Amino acid sequence: MNFRDSEFVEGLLLEDGFRKAGSFDKADVILFNSCSVRKHAEDRLFSNIAELAALKKKNPQLVIGLMGCAAQNYSDKILEKSPLVDFVCGPGNETDIPAIIADIMENRCPVIATNKVNDKRPEFFPEYRSSSFKAYVSISEGCGNFCSYCIVPYVRGRERSREAKDVIREVKDLARRGFREITLLGQNVNSYGGYKILKKGRSKGQGLIKLLTELNKIKGIERIRFLTSHPKDASPDLFRAMRDLGKVCEHLHLPAQSGSDRILKLMNRGYTSKRYLKLIEEYRKSAPGGSVTTDIIVGFPSETKKDFNDTRRLMEKVRFDGAFIFKYSPRPPARSAGFKDDVPKEIKQERLKTLLDLQCAISLEKNLPMKNKIAQILIDGYNIKESQVTGRTRAGKVAVFEGRKDLIGRFVDVRIESVSPHALKGRIVK
Ligand code: 5AD
Ligand code: SF4
Repeated sequence: MNFRDSEFVEGLLLEDGFRKAGSFDKADVILFNSCSVRKHAEDRLFSNIAELAALKKKNPQLVIGLMGCAAQNYSDKILEKSPLVDFVCGPGNETDIPAIIADIMENRCPVIATNKVNDKRPEFFPEYRSSSFKAYVSISEGCGNFCSYCIVPYVRGRERSREAKDVIREVKDLARRGFREITLLGQNVNSYGGYKILKKGRSKGQGLIKLLTELNKIKGIERIRFLTSHPKDASPDLFRAMRDLGKVCEHLHLPAQSGSDRILKLMNRGYTSKRYLKLIEEYRKSAPGGSVTTDIIVGFPSETKKDFNDTRRLMEKVRFDGAFIFKYSPRPPARSAGFKDDVPKEIKQERLKTLLDLQCAISLEKNLPMKNKIAQILIDGYNIKESQVTGRTRAGKVAVFEGRKDLIGRFVDVRIESVSPHALKGRIVK
């Protein structure tokens, strides 16, 4: 989502006559896009800004701006915390950035723009995309789930779905411009509410299913992905739709967060580990070769050894293809920031390491059956040093193989010759 926001603002600035500077010392404007989901990201942000002190001293006309979630979170407090910053712009105010920069260049007065946190983003946006063949398409903004550890509802506002007709128009336009893969973005895509008619009476998950059905018809688009699903709103209907809609890729990102029902309740997640396991079973029935990935938090307040073992067991049972595992950090004003952060740092670290090791072994085990199989890869990267290209399978697995840079954006068939936990290695056959 942050990637898409950066691209969006980059497009606005290019349309406004700016060009990419290439390096900090050549820039008139330096813009940080920030994340505040975990404390670590915020800490890095402040040290990155502080590193610009010498540059700003040399060039007092330099404009330093901060956009994104941390901008929203700190708002005017940023100016005390980091006096180098000229403007702060929350996610809802991004379209104002060109005007804010013009204002600062003229008046040299700091600007705080964080008032539109719950507004719908206007339906005009620049054509600019950083890729020419794969694109992120936002279908909803914000979130109203209020998981107790999560800052998103406060910094990105409540959930607002874009209207289906606008999303479809955007994807048709991308297809016309030659894009092949799209990834639909939302904090909880399963509660997508962009079809007015579906709002009455029918389950929330139907909105996403209908949207996927429509997008599946668009000529030129060959792969459709979506992120992120929420277990409380994901349904077997969605998994069947994934099976039946040929362009929808067989990858489900379904954050479990914990395997302990007590912790899930404290997290306000709205499901139990039993329901989670049942969902995975349903998914695997509908998409036998499909991959499933997750997010896990260790060291949530009051997490005991037993709670942690429940999470470990959940991971052992599900056998995820991949998992993002995080140490809990309090994120005021999220509700759990009021709970005692009582799992010691070392225990959090130990639990993190245990799960990372476990997941590494499982990821390898999940990749092994790919050996000697042929996978369709959309090539999206090139490594000059190794003369290798990289890309992803439909299931979202990274593949690496010999190839030329001009293959970027093409689909190829690759025979997988060896696998590691995080990548498949092979050779192009077609
Ligand atoms: N501490 C640690 N991890 C968090 N996440 C969200 N909030 C926190 C927090 N306070 C993780 C969740 C979420 C992912 C994007 O970040 O696992 O799914
Ligand atoms: Fe945060 Fe929960 Fe919303 Fe995800 S669903 S963005 S974790 S509040």
